[in-house]
Parts: sequence; structure tokens; C-alpha cells
Amino acid sequence: MSEQHIQTIRGFRDILPEQMAFWQKIEQEAIHVFRCFGYEEIRIPVVERTRLFSRSIGETTDIVEKEMYSFEDRNEDKITLRPEATASICRSYIQHKMYSVDPVRKFFLIGPMFRRERPQKGRYRQFYQIDAEVFGISSPYIDAELIFLLHTLFQRLGLTGLTAHINSLGCSECRPVFQKKLLEFIGDQKENFCEVCTRRMEKNPLRILDCKVETCKKALQGAPATQDCLCDACRNHFHQVQEALSKQNIPFEVDNSLVRGLDYYTRTAWEIQTTALGAQSAVAGGGRYDGLVEELGGPATPAIGFAIGFDRLVEIMEQIYPEKDLPSQDLFIVALGEAAMEKAYHLSCDLNLAGIKTRTDFRGKSMKSLMKRANKLNAGHVLIIGENEIENGQAVLRNMDTKEQVLLSLDDGLASEIQKQIR
Ligand code: HAM
Repeated sequence: MSEQHIQTIRGFRDILPEQMAFWQKIEQEAIHVFRCFGYEEIRIPVVERTRLFSRSIGETTDIVEKEMYSFEDRNEDKITLRPEATASICRSYIQHKMYSVDPVRKFFLIGPMFRRERPQKGRYRQFYQIDAEVFGISSPYIDAELIFLLHTLFQRLGLTGLTAHINSLGCSECRPVFQKKLLEFIGDQKENFCEVCTRRMEKNPLRILDCKVETCKKALQGAPATQDCLCDACRNHFHQVQEALSKQNIPFEVDNSLVRGLDYYTRTAWEIQTTALGAQSAVAGGGRYDGLVEELGGPATPAIGFAIGFDRLVEIMEQIYPEKDLPSQDLFIVALGEAAMEKAYHLSCDLNLAGIKTRTDFRGKSMKSLMKRANKLNAGHVLIIGENEIENGQAVLRNMDTKEQVLLSLDDGLASEIQKQIR
């Protein structure tokens, strides 16, 4: 394509009308399931103060260290395009004192997030998440409910073979015990770790478990697991989550290496993994974050949530159902000549409002080309109005599947007559 055409920025993309079928189906199913479980929709800005994300996601995470789209506003405020929704929803929860309305709040949000990651299959710089957050419940049943909800949604969408990988990351009491044990394990083999890990050993040792560098992964073999160091309360909590999942027949695996890429997590954390997109990737991830609301200046509030990678979910659906639904119309009106077009115009307005998907064409094309167009639009029925039909006050309605034809009067009752024939 020539240089003059302005193109999208690397990692950003258009989602075209012909790709929308799965986006809409998933969104409708998600909203349905959220409604069943008492979630309310929330919408928040895509831009927030940078420090909201650095404080909540964590200074030493990949997202904050390398991936945020941050810039200075004209008044020198440091602002960032949201890389995720949890921090912003907590900000909103605190700002509007939502806890004073009801001690338990459940929210969902669907929208774009921005991370400057290396673009590859299933990974974009503007991507979409379906996010859910629950405030005010510390019971393990809500952890299980969220994983159950994800499982239910994926099942309704026809996905199979997805497993929840779950882990417990402990709390402010037992996490330091784990970190100490991990550092003891690393001991004097620090030189086997990459530069980033070496830096993280001091600031945030848990992050080392998340390193993707092969030598670091190798050096971590046999390292202690967070689960070995859980306090009694965290161990019981994790046990109850697993019991609840087992009783509901939700497939899950306890995964010691799962730490998630964000620092706010406490206790249960999970990912739903898939290999459907080539390399193993997570189609959803979530966890408990019992300290975050207080950390951001709100009252101590247990909280938990997840986000589904909407783009990845669409790509999986495209693989499962390679035959995309063709956009189809109930009726195409072939209108030949000015008087017929006027009739077709009014008729299509009436029928569209009555819920009959009706298309016509005002470009003055021939009968042959309009019939081709009706076929292309996958119209179930075609109504042909030409000069003769206008004169005789009657037109033919053809069922494109059965080829049956009926003669209809072009008077005021036409719209309701067509509705009867088509329904
Ligand atoms: P996350 O694991 O960073 O968690 O992201 C959730 C999901 O978003 C991932 O599993 C993945 O499917 C999708 N995702 C992430 N980055 C990209 C990308 N660059 N391109 C396409 N998809 C992507 C969170 O964001 C947490 N806020 C989830 C959460 C909510 N935890 C508690 N509440």
C-alpha cells in the first residue's frame, strides 16, 4: 500500500464489522451470566493518574516497569492509559464511598486496556478485557463462585478442555516467611539469575517466580512453593476453595509456579490456560486482593476479581467455529424506478422498526444486479416492486429457500402482511 495511507500503530488494530459476530455473542453471554450472579456494570475512564497503577500493580512488575503508556499532561500531571481495570475500579469504589451504600458490591466492566507488550498472536497493545470485581466478601465461597462463573461462561460459549490453574499466594503474615525461604534457597547461586531477577530479589522476591528467562526457570527447580509456607488461615481458605470447586466438578489444577504478573494479589490466584493459540497463554486471570482498597486509602475491604482476555477468547471461538455466521437479512426489496424506491423506503422503515431486518437499494441498479445483492446479503425473502407492480398495486414476495411466491397487495396493510408471511 502506498506511503500516503495512514495505517494503524503497531499492536493496535481495527475490529471490522465482519469480525463482530463473536465479539457480540461473547458480550451478550457475559452480560447474561453477570446479571444472573448479581453484578452491576461500571464504566471508568481509560486514563488515570500514573501513580494509581504503579502503587497497585507494583513498581517492579513488567507492566509498570516496561509496558505502560504514560505521558505528561499539559499541566505536567503524569497520566497513564489504563493497563487493566482493577486499580481504577478500586479508585472509583473509594472515591464514591460505594461501601457506604452496601457493604457488598459486585461490578463488571467491558472495555479496552493498553500495554506496550511485544505484539504477537493473541497479544495486542490495545486489547479488551471482560472484568469482574467483588468487594466486601472474604469467604472462600466467593473465590469458588468467580471460578465457577468463568467456567459457566466458557461452557455456554462452547469452549472445552480449559483448566483453571490455581495457587495461594498467602497474606501479609505468611508471604514474608515464603520470601525468606525462597531467598535462602537461592542462597549463593545468585549469579544464575538474570539482572532483573537479581534486582527483584531485594525489592520483591515473589516476582522471581514469574521470570520467563530459561536459566532463571532452571535455577528455580526445587524452589519452595508458596503453599508450603501458608499460615493456618490461608491454608484453610485455599482448602475450602478447592473443596467447593471439586463439589461443583470444576476442573482445576494446583499450580505452584503461578504467581500472576500483578503485585496486589493475596491468597487465591488463578488463570484459565489454553494452548489453542499456539504457545500456552492465559485466556483469563484473577485473584484475591484483600489489601488493595486499604492501600489506596479506603477502608480495609476484602476484594477479589478476574479479567478475561476478550481478544484471545474471540480467537479461540474463531478456531472452534470456523464458519462465521453470514450477516443475513429477513427481506430484501428490489425496487425498480423512482416510485418503487419511494414505496420501498417507507416500507423498509416500517418493517425494520417492527423487527424484520429489511434492506433495499437506492442506487438505481438493474433487476439482475439487485437479485445478486439480495443473494449476497443472504436475504430470506425478496419483494420485487417495479413500474408494473406499482400500476397494478400488487407485488411478488419470494421465499429464497423454498422459491415459493405469494402475491401481495401494495396497500397500507402490506407491512403487516409481510410480517405474517415471514414469521
Ligand atoms: P491479567 O492477567 O494481567 O490480569 O490480564 C487478564 C487477561 O487479559 C489475560 O489472561 C489475557 O487473556 C488478557 N491480556 C493481558 N494482556 C494482553 C494483551 N497484551 N493482549 C491481549 N490480551 C491480553 C489483570 O489484568 C487483572 N486486572 C485481573 C483481575 C481482576 N484480577 C483481579 N481482578
